Amino acid sequence: MKNHILFILAAAMLAACAPSESDLQRFSPDKRHLVTLQLIDGNLYYELVRLGQDEARPVIQPSLLGFDLGSDMPALAGNFRIERVEKSSFSETWTQVWGEKKDILNNYNEIRVHLTETTDNPRDLIVVFRVYDDGVGFRYEFPEQPNLREFQIMDELTEFQLAGNHTTWSIGAYQWNRFEYYYDEAPLSAIDTVHTPLTMRTDDGLYLSLHEAALVDYSTMTLERTGEHLLKSNLMPWHNGVRVYAQTPFVTPWRTLQIAEQPGDLITSYLILNLNEPNKIEDTSWIEPSKYVGIWWEMHLDKSTWGSGERHGATTENTRRYIDFAAEHGFPHVLVEGWNPGWDGEWYADGVVFDFTTPMPNFDLEGLAAYARERGVRLMGHHETSASVLHYESQMEDAFALYERLGVRAVKTGYVGHGREIKWFNEAGEEQREWHHGQFMVRHHQRVVELAARHKISLNVHEGVKDTGLRRTWPNLMTREVAMGQEYNAWGGEGGHPPAYTLILPFTRNLSGPFDYTPGVLDLLFDEYRPDNRIKSTLAKELALYVVIYSPLHMAADLPENYERYIDAFQFIKDVPTDWYDTQVLEASIAEYITIVRKDRNSEDWYLGSITGEDAREVEIPLSFLDIDKTYIAHIYRDGDNADWEQAPYDFVIEQKEVTAADMLEFRLGRSGGLAVRFEAQ
Ligand code: NOJ
Repeated sequence: MKNHILFILAAAMLAACAPSESDLQRFSPDKRHLVTLQLIDGNLYYELVRLGQDEARPVIQPSLLGFDLGSDMPALAGNFRIERVEKSSFSETWTQVWGEKKDILNNYNEIRVHLTETTDNPRDLIVVFRVYDDGVGFRYEFPEQPNLREFQIMDELTEFQLAGNHTTWSIGAYQWNRFEYYYDEAPLSAIDTVHTPLTMRTDDGLYLSLHEAALVDYSTMTLERTGEHLLKSNLMPWHNGVRVYAQTPFVTPWRTLQIAEQPGDLITSYLILNLNEPNKIEDTSWIEPSKYVGIWWEMHLDKSTWGSGERHGATTENTRRYIDFAAEHGFPHVLVEGWNPGWDGEWYADGVVFDFTTPMPNFDLEGLAAYARERGVRLMGHHETSASVLHYESQMEDAFALYERLGVRAVKTGYVGHGREIKWFNEAGEEQREWHHGQFMVRHHQRVVELAARHKISLNVHEGVKDTGLRRTWPNLMTREVAMGQEYNAWGGEGGHPPAYTLILPFTRNLSGPFDYTPGVLDLLFDEYRPDNRIKSTLAKELALYVVIYSPLHMAADLPENYERYIDAFQFIKDVPTDWYDTQVLEASIAEYITIVRKDRNSEDWYLGSITGEDAREVEIPLSFLDIDKTYIAHIYRDGDNADWEQAPYDFVIEQKEVTAADMLEFRLGRSGGLAVRFEAQ
């Protein structure tokens, strides 16, 4: 951590003098955003305005704050008075352990409004707003107090009164397949209850994204439309309708709103990370951003199986083949799925089936771990829990200890199962079923990340809770799926993702955090295995995804034999890093196109990824992001002149040329096409 400047300009006011309007206002450091709080009839409201040269655009119009605490306790709303207000400012540049940018500026102005009630047994609540140049975050703090100890949140009343019928991109909440749906593009007035991030475009050209930060011991927030342009927090409930169990002192996650004039600026906003607590892991030397290969895509293609039998994928022999391939091409991890008993039959049917410490008889776990280590490679572990969480918890201590002993540094976890079918038993032995992303599971995932950290293991979580920036506090929580990944291209209902899908992800799913999409399938058609599906993109687009979709652990997902076939294109996958010094979005339009450049954290090289959706496109890319005093060899992997995902997906050109910051690249990208470039500093 460096350049730490903390200065507090606190203005504490006594209860006796009612705060004036300006006492309840806070600007962002650049004075573009103004948050105003006001008390009306004992209720606290907030609003947010974006200020321009001669204009003030409302972003959030007066919106209610507060809680319903159930029938046993009066609501925490409607009886407030303001006891005092504190204001402070903060500016610090902190360094990510790994990430899409090395040094991050955290600069905000804060206002803390201390509320108490006008009732006989008053309770206290603090509402904290941090106002940033790129948006706002706010949360509630419940201090320790005699009149509020243990309590249940039956409803969080937080509202977001938006100022118009914005265009929105979101996925519906309360569905059986959790977060694995396509994003709907719809007017705000047409959405129902949706997951966050909820990304929006206003008619006057602003881009907004609502989400949350630091979800540690609370329920996931979804957003319910309760008025024409009015959204309200809707927390995933426990089986009995309680939203959150809490005890003072207690803080909620931050409710976040990112605000930008260009869609790409949402991607380079680090507000969500800034609102998380600093890193709690002292020695981070074992946390390695890197790439991996593995026994995975072959099961999704149905070339081999997770379960035992003649086509079992996770055999000792097959794993050796992948380890040899990883060692030859410089991939530090080899994922092996289907290595343990439990996969035969309907493993995903909520059975208590998996054994996490015993390998299948034809998988020599100890021998393979040693074979890998001798070649400078490590096995990546796999814990598919089939959402039998208590069963997993009864074994996970031993399971992580085993992996640590074998030199494993990263584990992929999985929670395949119906969205609200997480089973546990209460003290009376009665079965309860919880949502995948209610407080029960948020607490489970926190236990896993802390346990994994004790065993020096990083996590790649599938079917988990959405990311809220916890990677800042727990940098071993490296990546997650929690969206539809590459696997749907193998067997998904629509024959593969539509071309625009990967043009929506950077502005929605990826705003929450890294995504284990598993790119790099170069055999785009795989007719031999799944003739009804294909990857609806060109070869160059599949390469460009390594730069466009951020993840510190990226898979080279295809079969080794396919990389041998496309060995020249494979070079880009070998070269591209997963840990960046800087990230810039050069141009972007949600669902249509994006061009991102990132500078390697461990060299002077830059990488570029540019992709298109349904339409072909001419791109003109000024190289002014390159260092001014350097010459680079540009290794260009681009669409050929006739490239088109449907007609000519393999029309592909690799070329090299010398460039400087004064040059411009001009290319045509085909329909669902791409461009990937490594700028190798000379
Ligand atoms: C779903 C995961 O997303 C996928 O990556 C994994 O192969 C299967 N579950 C089996 O665990």
